[in-house]
Formats: sequence, C-alpha cells, structure tokens
Amino acid sequence: MRKPIVAGNWKMNKTMREAESLAESIKVDLGEFTKVDVVLCPPFTALKTVSDVISRSAIRLGGQHMSAEPSGAFTGEISAGMLRDLYCNYVILGHSERRAYAGETDAGVNEKTLAAHASGLKPIVCVGEKLEEREAGITQAVVEAQVKGCLSGLDEEQVKNTIVAYEPVWAIGTGKTATPEMAQDVHAHIRAVVAVMFGDDLAKTVRIQYGGSMKPGNAAELISQPDIDGGLIGGAALDAGSFVEIVKAAV
Ligand code: 13P
Repeated sequence: MRKPIVAGNWKMNKTMREAESLAESIKVDLGEFTKVDVVLCPPFTALKTVSDVISRSAIRLGGQHMSAEPSGAFTGEISAGMLRDLYCNYVILGHSERRAYAGETDAGVNEKTLAAHASGLKPIVCVGEKLEEREAGITQAVVEAQVKGCLSGLDEEQVKNTIVAYEPVWAIGTGKTATPEMAQDVHAHIRAVVAVMFGDDLAKTVRIQYGGSMKPGNAAELISQPDIDGGLIGGAALDAGSFVEIVKAAV
C-alpha cells in the first residue's frame, strides 16, 4: 500500500556535464517504469542541469541539504524556496555526514523539516546509529530520540509527506550492510515511534527508506522486508546501471 521510493544521494560528486550524462542514462534506462518513486539528489551546482534533463519524466529532483531560513545573510546556504525554484520536490535533511561534519542536530533538523513542508518540499529525514551505539545495544533508543526530535510538531498532511531514511552510520560507504533482519527491526521500531507520536493510521502511510551500502545484489531482499519501503543510495547511485537495477528491485 506504500509506494516504494528510491533516491540517489550523489553527495559531493559529479560536475555539471557528468551529472547531465548520469541523469540522461537513468532516464533512458527507466523508460516508462513508474512503479517506484525515483528521486535524484545531485549537488547544488548540478540541480538546474538535472532538472532540465528530467523535466518531462516521472523522475523527481531533491536537494541534499537546506537552511531553515527563508533568505538573508547566511553565506553558503540554500533556502527551501531556492530548491523549489529549481523544481525540487524533495530535500534530504539531517544526513549523518551533515551531522558529523556540519554539526547538525535533531532540533535543527526539526526546524528544517517544518520549513521544507512550509515550502511544499517533501523532507527525507535521516536517522541512524553509530557503530559504538550499536555495540552498546542502544540502537533503538538512539533512533527513537532522533525520530522524536526531528519530527516533532508536524501536522497530519506533513507526516504523510515525510520520508524517513534509516541509515546506520557504520554501513554508509563501508560495504557493510545491515542484514535484512537488523534493518527490519529498526524500521519497525521507527514506525512504532511514529505511531506513538501521530497514531497508527498515519504511521502506516510513512515511507521508511534503508540506506547504507545498498547495491543491486542486496536491494531486493532488504526492500522486501515489511517496513522497508525503498532505499537512499550513495555509491551505487553514481552508476546508472546499478541505480536502475536497485529501482527495479524495489517493487
Ligand atoms: P552508500 O550507499 O554509499 O553507503 O551511502 C549511503 C548514503 O549515505 C545515502 O545517503
């Protein structure tokens, strides 16, 4: 009942020309395939290029980050309105790399989540435990606190239009993937936390992506878990063939 959603987070990769060619190949390879929502999140510098390539397709565009502020003296920042201006429909918020390298906090991600919704962007809100937290047996508590902190104060419509991405930090870019059972356990817990916050019915509508070394070889098994509704793909999203294979494995 939840439509799968697969997003490619290109991180700090691809020049304009490379981005154009990658987006073009993905568009051609996907053809008329619409059983999965597909989102491309190139770096800011390639948003316009990719936006033009996918403009008459079912592929959607997303930013990798944004400011909670609408405009003003915030050097280096990008607003929700600017992302909308480039026809973005999504924005990744609170990625673990932004938490680690740019000091993002749950409270800050919460402000951005509300600002994204206010501008009509669907936020992809990232949560996930670090290796030492998993080893200490506190994964569920960590993720629960992140979900509660990031999603507080949303109304019904906003909850329905929020995507949560569970990305265990130790699985990102390391080749180590959570087993389908490990991932499903955390996804089920995330849905239970959303249910406590907003009720069962709304929790059932929220799509929860898995991210962390997802590849064509492990995508189908992960996404076939009952509470895994798609993927947020890093490395494998930089190759059109691998990305499209993952998209097609998500149905
Ligand atoms: P990898 O797929 O490269 O592990 O990255 C996952 C990720 O961080 C997506 O946001």
